[in-house]
Amino acid sequence: MSDEGLDLKGCRVLVTGAGGFLGSHVVETLKARGVSEVLMPTRDACNLVKPDEVQAFFESQRPEVVVHLAAAQGGVAWQKANQATAFLDNARMMESIVLASLETNVKRLLFTASSICYPRGAAIPFQENTLWDGPPEPAHLGYAQAKRGGIALLQAAHQQHGLSSCVLMPANMYGPRARFDPDRSNVVAATIRRCMEARDRGDDSITCWGSGTPIREFLYVEDAAEGVLRALQQEGSEPAPMNLGTGVETTIAELVEMVAELVGFKGSIRWDRDRPDGAPRVCMAVDRMQERLAWMPSTSLAEGLQRTISWWESARLQEADA
Ligand SMILES: NC(=O)c1ccc[n+]([C@@H]2O[C@H](COP(=O)([O-])OP(=O)(O)OC[C@H]3O[C@@H](n4cnc5c(N)ncnc54)[C@H](OP(=O)(O)O)[C@@H]3O)[C@@H](O)[C@H]2O)c1
Repeated sequence: MSDEGLDLKGCRVLVTGAGGFLGSHVVETLKARGVSEVLMPTRDACNLVKPDEVQAFFESQRPEVVVHLAAAQGGVAWQKANQATAFLDNARMMESIVLASLETNVKRLLFTASSICYPRGAAIPFQENTLWDGPPEPAHLGYAQAKRGGIALLQAAHQQHGLSSCVLMPANMYGPRARFDPDRSNVVAATIRRCMEARDRGDDSITCWGSGTPIREFLYVEDAAEGVLRALQQEGSEPAPMNLGTGVETTIAELVEMVAELVGFKGSIRWDRDRPDGAPRVCMAVDRMQERLAWMPSTSLAEGLQRTISWWESARLQEADA
């Protein structure tokens, strides 16, 4: 470690889930910072739910730093239908990675949990010290409990073996390379898709679920990748969870209006109030992040949405040409 923390340039860094949304941006950010040894195994090269494959990979490749971003996840519908899969796959990945990290003396491990891990009904904005105050929302039970188990495992590994690690709790992320497939997309991708398709068909209106009043927080993926790198380099090895977000609250109606304007959808926006709204307000406290990382995400929602829309416009065209 240098005075400024862990010097990543000289390290062999393993990024799990490097082909995924956040993973691809973390790899780009690492490379832009001059980290030349970045290991990015695909699922075929190392299936993380298989302890033997993980062990063999760590023994042969000897990563010094591990950024564990791989996850079995999806939208609310996927999570409800796959509670056990979400639990088992995420728990297995974490156990295999922590065991292999201990056995090969990894210097530092970063793990991404989620704002979904907070207890149902926790005070808003979510403060890290309320994480264990009650069970999470039942709709995310399998995923959230496995992630919580991962946090507990890192704390235990730190206590027993001194494993240096950190845990980030990212807000809802959006940006280029986000999942846009209807089964697994989040509200930002789904809204962009809906507005563009309505624009292209020349529809007079779109109908969105609920009242539009719920409040959410959105984090641009390149800012999230920057936060990951900063957290990775931090001194201090106690894996106390840290929120990663903007602290900016946006209503769903504001999001839809912003997207409609940016994509050029001129029709009206209707709200189907018979459909569920979900939690009225979800937002995270970012004081710990600000204090520890001396940093705040810098991309405004309008700027981030514009970049996401531009990326998706060209990705759609490429898909259509293929
Ligand atoms: N996206 C968000 O808004 C959000 C919010 C809070 C927290 N997080 C957390 O942030 C991290 C990154 O999320 P993301 O949205 O970037 O995820 P993502 O796009 O879904 O990518 C997940 C990656 O994990 C890989 N993976 C899954 N199971 C695997 C296995 N058994 N073996 C090897 N690789 C496996 C996937 O590979 P395949 O392509 O082969 O499936 C994929 O590359 C995750 O830990 C997630 O829980 C995300």
